[in-house]
Amino acid sequence: MPNIVVVGAQWGDEGKGKVVDLLTEHAQVVVRFQGGNNAGHTLVVGGQKTVLHLIPSGILHSGKTCVIGNGVVIDPTVLMKEIDALKSRGFLADARQLLISSHAHVIFPWHKHLDALREKSRAGSAIGTTGRGIGPAYEDKVGRRGIRVADLLDATRLKRRVHERLGPASEEIFQLARAAKVPEPLLEEGDIIREYSELGERLREYVADTSLYLSEKVRKGTRILFEGAQGTLLDVDHGTYPFVTSSNCVAGNAAVGSGLGPTSIDRVLGITKAYTTRVGQGPFPTELSDELGERLRKVGDEFGATTGRPRRCGWLDVVVLRYATRVNGLWGLALTKMDVLSGLESVKICTSYELDGQRIEELPGDYEDLGRVKPVYEELPGWDKRLAGSRTLEDLPEAAQRYVRRIEELCGIPVVCVSVGADRGETILLANPYHA
Ligand code: IMP
Repeated sequence: MPNIVVVGAQWGDEGKGKVVDLLTEHAQVVVRFQGGNNAGHTLVVGGQKTVLHLIPSGILHSGKTCVIGNGVVIDPTVLMKEIDALKSRGFLADARQLLISSHAHVIFPWHKHLDALREKSRAGSAIGTTGRGIGPAYEDKVGRRGIRVADLLDATRLKRRVHERLGPASEEIFQLARAAKVPEPLLEEGDIIREYSELGERLREYVADTSLYLSEKVRKGTRILFEGAQGTLLDVDHGTYPFVTSSNCVAGNAAVGSGLGPTSIDRVLGITKAYTTRVGQGPFPTELSDELGERLRKVGDEFGATTGRPRRCGWLDVVVLRYATRVNGLWGLALTKMDVLSGLESVKICTSYELDGQRIEELPGDYEDLGRVKPVYEELPGWDKRLAGSRTLEDLPEAAQRYVRRIEELCGIPVVCVSVGADRGETILLANPYHA
């Protein structure tokens, strides 16, 4: 009865939502364990598109439970909007389908202002955050001054906690706004308390001790699917620091961010595009700043699901994938957006780097060195057939099959799923991680 973690093997946006939606059929419970509404998980079912930012990507399946774990940072306004939008389409008819950890930390308006103003103050060295207040909310969490979901449900406590936090946050916002020569945003204590109290009341029916709930499921052998957000190279410890997000995106955090022991995890599936993308600043060795990069962006519709920002595009980098395999303990890979590469005369895979004249097979430890490496490519023949109708590996053109097999050889783990279009059905499942 394996419990599976799905993580991004690159810089996010790999198509985790689609794979989680697909695998939910085989699981009972789907858990988000980190990140917040910086994520944008896109699902297309029967031609209808759903973009989820906080609610796990299993929510379109009836009879399954979706859990927002303690490791997530929640903007309750965004969450409530997401709940309302799903309900208006007939999903989430039963409130028991969604559980929210009482220990999850809450994003307040000052976190969003601090995120935006700190980015402004960094000028040339800005990270390119999503501006959703994620970093400042996690800072408050580890600084032991955060406000949690449980606090929203107690009016007296909420009032006290907002009062304690708003003063110091407003002071920093004032300083930053003055330095940036922008008007200071208005943060009215009474309004915030009222709004968040109301949101707390609306969310109350979903709030639970999710660690206890999940541990009971583990004890009974119920299948759990853990849904990662962002990607390995955006992990605060293992990513291209400081150009990373503020949480651990690697598989090990699935246990911490859900309140379970690491022994509850059986398998880890890494999701990778057939090429590479990145949003925001930071090193990206295989980036294509030419017509080809533009073509990948256009054909792959590479614009952020959260911010709409154009994504930087480049060739597949297996140095990155081997690294992701190592730090996540990947069992297999799901290869998404294979269809986007159709129509190219040849395709390239980066197999190693050159740094100061030396060939290196591993990521250099220092991100500044990663900014200087030169990718070493292997070139393979391309294919021009549309792939959307392919349902088995043999349906793919021979060159596309060779591309998949070469990735397996270079990474040392199997490709168990190939996605050939955005729709749930446009997928080739080579091995089901729940059965294999
Ligand atoms: P933050 O998470 O908003 O603080 O942004 C930090 C970095 O992570 C920026 O480079 C963002 O573009 C990137 N990032 C955050 N969430 C995602 C995501 O879901 N997909 C891709 N990039 C992301």
